[in-house]
Amino acid sequence: MSDILFEIKTENLETGLRGYPVGYCTTSTVDPLRGLFYVGHPLSEMSNKAPEEVIFLLFHGREGSPQEIDHFKKTLNQRSTCSPEFLKQIRLLPRRGQATKLFSIALLLGGIFEGTQTYAEDALNLVAKIPEIAATVINHHAGWKLSPPSDPSLGYIENFVHMLNVPEANPTDLIQAFSLFSKLHYDHGGGNLSAFVGKATASGLEDLYGSMAAAMCALAGPRHGRANQDSLEFLQKLSAEVGEDPTEKQLAAILEKKLEQNELIFGFGHAVLRVEDPRATLLYTIIQTQYPSHPLVKLALLLRQAGSHVLQKSGKISDPHPNVDAVSGLLLSVSGFPYPQYFTVLFGMARTVGIARQIVYEREEARGGKGTPIVRPNYLFKSLST
Ligand code: MLT
Repeated sequence: MSDILFEIKTENLETGLRGYPVGYCTTSTVDPLRGLFYVGHPLSEMSNKAPEEVIFLLFHGREGSPQEIDHFKKTLNQRSTCSPEFLKQIRLLPRRGQATKLFSIALLLGGIFEGTQTYAEDALNLVAKIPEIAATVINHHAGWKLSPPSDPSLGYIENFVHMLNVPEANPTDLIQAFSLFSKLHYDHGGGNLSAFVGKATASGLEDLYGSMAAAMCALAGPRHGRANQDSLEFLQKLSAEVGEDPTEKQLAAILEKKLEQNELIFGFGHAVLRVEDPRATLLYTIIQTQYPSHPLVKLALLLRQAGSHVLQKSGKISDPHPNVDAVSGLLLSVSGFPYPQYFTVLFGMARTVGIARQIVYEREEARGGKGTPIVRPNYLFKSLST
């Protein structure tokens, strides 16, 4: 007789599976009060690690020795090349609509041109190739110059910055911002929507690339990966409304008025967390240290307090605290990448790491290597005519 983990009542139906245990995640966990842990290591331990070290941790389930990390970097370098025909097809996509749609199409194309039909191989290959895929999508959609040839020997994120033709940006600032942004977004437990959709799609034995395309479609929505874009745009509009150096009281009054008018306050709340997202805490500290006099940084820090107080007082949401999206886009913008329309592609570039590894677990390691069965939950019939 196995343990009872969760009791499902009718009140739990149509709640987005909140709290339902449905499987195992070997890469990360999200504690409501302590936040994100990568293979048992708190996020705070990731600050001084290279992105490649964190990817190794997620893929191997342990920290690598310096020798293992060097070998892993070489492995990623060897697998990083995308075929010229694949990249040419990305550049034939329409430069219209959300860039995330091109990103998902690029992943489907990746399955056609680069797929090996082996989950573990495709997972490592995709992680190695995703910087060039993302840079090609963004350069194309933005109308920026062609990506220069990939040079993976520069480093994982360094090569991404090398390929991305961001106008008038300081490469060192971009490398620092993209490295931190990526590390914070590699994974967030097994149940975030994009990971869940990627795994559910793979449970039907779609290949890794197709499953990742589905995952990135799930990520593209404003309730998930697009929240960082919406939060920065909200902050910019708020800045125009409140003017220079508002007091917390003035800001709170404006936020209360928005709530009265049923307007959203972006960047707050989370399905699992019940404290300030530790990823946000880390980012607030960095932008306050590095850009203390930037008007949007000052407003974001004020919003961090006023927004929580107003939302707490309203009782309208179960988690009145800032999440990572409240500040992740601001970090990118003040670091030289003021292009909110591409923030979700950057989120997706990072999240493919955790989702790829979680798919490999479910396809090739779970249940003694048999893999998990096709996802098939039960729905109760409900007549709309009675
Ligand atoms: C994420 O990082 O995926 C978001 O915080 C959403 C989630 O964890 O469900």
